[in-house]
Amino acid sequence: MKVIEPISSHFYFGGCDTVQLAKKYGTPLYVMSEDYICERCKEIREDFLKKYENTKAVYASKAFLTMEMCRIIEREGIGIDVVSGGELYTALKAGFPMEKVIFHGNNKTLEEIEMAVKNNVGRIVVDNLYELELLNSVAQAFGKKMKILFRITPGVDSHTHKYISTGQVDSKFGIPLKGNIINEAIKKAIDSSNIELMGFHFHVGSQLFDNSSHIKAVKILVKLMNDMKESIGFITKELNTGGGFGIYYFEGDESKPLRYFTDAIMETIKEECHKYDLLMPTVIIEPGRWLVGEAGITLYTVGSIKEIPNVRTYVGIDGGMPDNPRPALYGAKYEVIVANKMNQEKNSLVTVAGKCCESGDILRYDLKVPKLEAGDILIFKSTGAYNYSMASNYNKIPRPAVVMVSNGIDRLIVKRETYEYLLRNEL
Ligand code: LLP
Repeated sequence: MKVIEPISSHFYFGGCDTVQLAKKYGTPLYVMSEDYICERCKEIREDFLKKYENTKAVYASKAFLTMEMCRIIEREGIGIDVVSGGELYTALKAGFPMEKVIFHGNNKTLEEIEMAVKNNVGRIVVDNLYELELLNSVAQAFGKKMKILFRITPGVDSHTHKYISTGQVDSKFGIPLKGNIINEAIKKAIDSSNIELMGFHFHVGSQLFDNSSHIKAVKILVKLMNDMKESIGFITKELNTGGGFGIYYFEGDESKPLRYFTDAIMETIKEECHKYDLLMPTVIIEPGRWLVGEAGITLYTVGSIKEIPNVRTYVGIDGGMPDNPRPALYGAKYEVIVANKMNQEKNSLVTVAGKCCESGDILRYDLKVPKLEAGDILIFKSTGAYNYSMASNYNKIPRPAVVMVSNGIDRLIVKRETYEYLLRNEL
């Protein structure tokens, strides 16, 4: 067998030469490392599922979902959280076991609820009383009893971008602890013939580096477990503590191992349950970004370069906000490298501009790179989460392909969209 020597000036990912991947599949291109995803799943198994009894983990598929991803997650022994009929449909079509699916959402439609009931989704996280009634009537019509958790707004502020903070009092998600709403909801659930209330869920926010919000929320939730036991006699069997574990994007991001969060969550639940003399519930976590964020990169080709003397140099790439809306939405910053110039000195300063007709379509300001020219391949790192899944067709730009790499082998898992595909629903 001929051994191919790696080219030192090229960037390798998952054992593959990214410059070759750009040639083979074209750009923009999402590349996901299966090895990296599997390592993270192993960390979940070793440091959480095996370490603590009576625990479950589900992957928050909103971060990155394809049928192949469902197959990987199933093989790795983890469940899936979905938030829409479309995500549920993807899991269904991939043959993902429905009992391992948790269905979220603050305004599930009747059709989505029917789909979940019909397909025996494992848990439905009920967000409000309207949904509870709707679910009960659908379950009745199908002659089924659905297991649910109530999503609770714990009233905890997390230190992250306003758009991805969810646990504060003023949130569109979940049942507030203020007033008597939760007592009513629990009573109503207990009285609903086709509902079995298993426990509670909370999610404090996303891209967190500090476990204090999880700890605060857990304390509030275990107190709620105690209050509900004392006032209504309701015994909580399950507590879902959400996701939110942060990853590395850019200097200053202090990402932590999973156990930094999960140990704190488990220890706090144990202590608080002991304090109130409660039985330990089954504890569930649902990381999304943490599992796939650093597993993905995006490849772009450099085109036009515009130098405004003494002001700025804009480097135009063949993608932008349609494949990565995060810089425009959240001011997100990414590390960027030049895949074909890995050992050249970084002596120029550029701004990477997307190709949309929109001044805000800038993917990265003030990037130090080697001298660039048309045809160079730029790589944005840590784009595995909330990039493919949030991509749009703005400016009628087709979405990029997705390639999975593992141990030096690449395989296409999502084809690049075509212009014809863009018009498929137009009459
Ligand atoms: N569970 C629930 C109920 C959630 O709402 C979320 C995320 C997660 C789990 C997973 O959170 P993660 O582990 O990924 O932080 N588009 C934004 C992120 C939105 C997150 C929404 N909910 C971004 O690009 O930063």
